[in-house]
Amino acid sequence: MFIKLITSVVPVLFFFLQLQYASAKVATYNVLSYGAKANGRLESKNAFLKAWNLACASTNPAIIYVPTGRYLIASAVTFAGAYLFNTCKSKAITINIDGTLVAPSSYNAIGNAEVWIKFHRVNRVTISGGTLDAQGAPLWACKSSVKTCPKGATTLGIYHSQNIVINRLRSLNSQMFHILLYACNNAKLQGVSIVAPGLSPNTDGIHLISSTGVTVLNSKIATGDDCISIGPGNSNLWIEKVVCGPGHGISIGSLGWDLQEPGVQNVTVKSTTFIGTQNGVRIKTWARRSNGFVKNVVFQHSTMVNVQNPIIIDANYCPNNANCPNHVSRVKISNVVYEDVHGTSATRVAVKFDCTKGKPCSGIRLKDVNLKYGSQPAASSCSYVAGVASGLRGFTSCL
Ligand SMILES: *[C@@H]1O[C@H](CO)[C@@H](O)[C@H](O)[C@H]1NC(C)=O
Repeated sequence: MFIKLITSVVPVLFFFLQLQYASAKVATYNVLSYGAKANGRLESKNAFLKAWNLACASTNPAIIYVPTGRYLIASAVTFAGAYLFNTCKSKAITINIDGTLVAPSSYNAIGNAEVWIKFHRVNRVTISGGTLDAQGAPLWACKSSVKTCPKGATTLGIYHSQNIVINRLRSLNSQMFHILLYACNNAKLQGVSIVAPGLSPNTDGIHLISSTGVTVLNSKIATGDDCISIGPGNSNLWIEKVVCGPGHGISIGSLGWDLQEPGVQNVTVKSTTFIGTQNGVRIKTWARRSNGFVKNVVFQHSTMVNVQNPIIIDANYCPNNANCPNHVSRVKISNVVYEDVHGTSATRVAVKFDCTKGKPCSGIRLKDVNLKYGSQPAASSCSYVAGVASGLRGFTSCL
């Protein structure tokens, strides 16, 4: 009898203990409970902020849940972590999104803000699923007219933050950059999908500045500017299994605008595919005086499909050739490996190393590169570059 009682009570006791443990462990905040409207017409910003503040105040890990539906976020919003008077206590916040956050169709609502959806000084934040629709088209139309237009907002900007995960997020039609990481440490973006037309201006897919330990995996980026752009001060980046196109390819740069500028180092870009893009893998620096640098970069296993400049270093970068600085680039570019880059170039010169006399490129290595121009061999051009080539097919190297 006693044994029987024990065996039946103990599992029940455990069940309740677990239940209590589980409910104490994770707090969930559904934005609908705080007044969000899933109809896409009524402003939901304050409801999202309420959910965020509660999640922050929770001493346990918290989940913010956004059910299916469209949620209007009608002006720029900042989700702040450790501010002076607003300290996020939560150990971790996960934002699970099934729905779409949508910006107003009138571009002025967010067009003068730097960022539409901003995270500032947060730690251990995961954004999972969902769509961000910035409705950028009217602003692009304005920019191609004679009217004066706002600069446009970055859709999702994460500043001074660490331990960030962005999972299966979709960004549509940003006004400016889709996703920006600024001064972040340890971030992982995976299964991200970015969509904007090939002719949308400045709609870089993922833009990185002064960040370290950023990984981008299994993502698909179709946009009007760089697929991924790597600005000054980035290090320890890992980019793998990314498909780009349309757009301007994966770029390190532009660098060298400022005289005092932190460099870019330890960047690996592997197993990427470029479809009909302007560039494949590019390094671009302004022809200005700068102490910036690029070193220890590996571009590996890339497939090029009809790409205008599959491999390019452009040390005289000046888009549209307007107001070019016309100095000599002083950004030092060294130790860059291109390995197993293959496919087709849309122009005859598939490999272009346009470095400068001031700081020639050095330690440039082409290995097992096989690029064709149609059915013909492709060509390469070199200026002020030192390096070695091996195992080349489909074209002759100027190195
Ligand atoms: C280079 O970056 C990778 C992450 O992409 C990191 O694991 C590695 O330790 C870094 N190497 C150095 C020398 O910092």
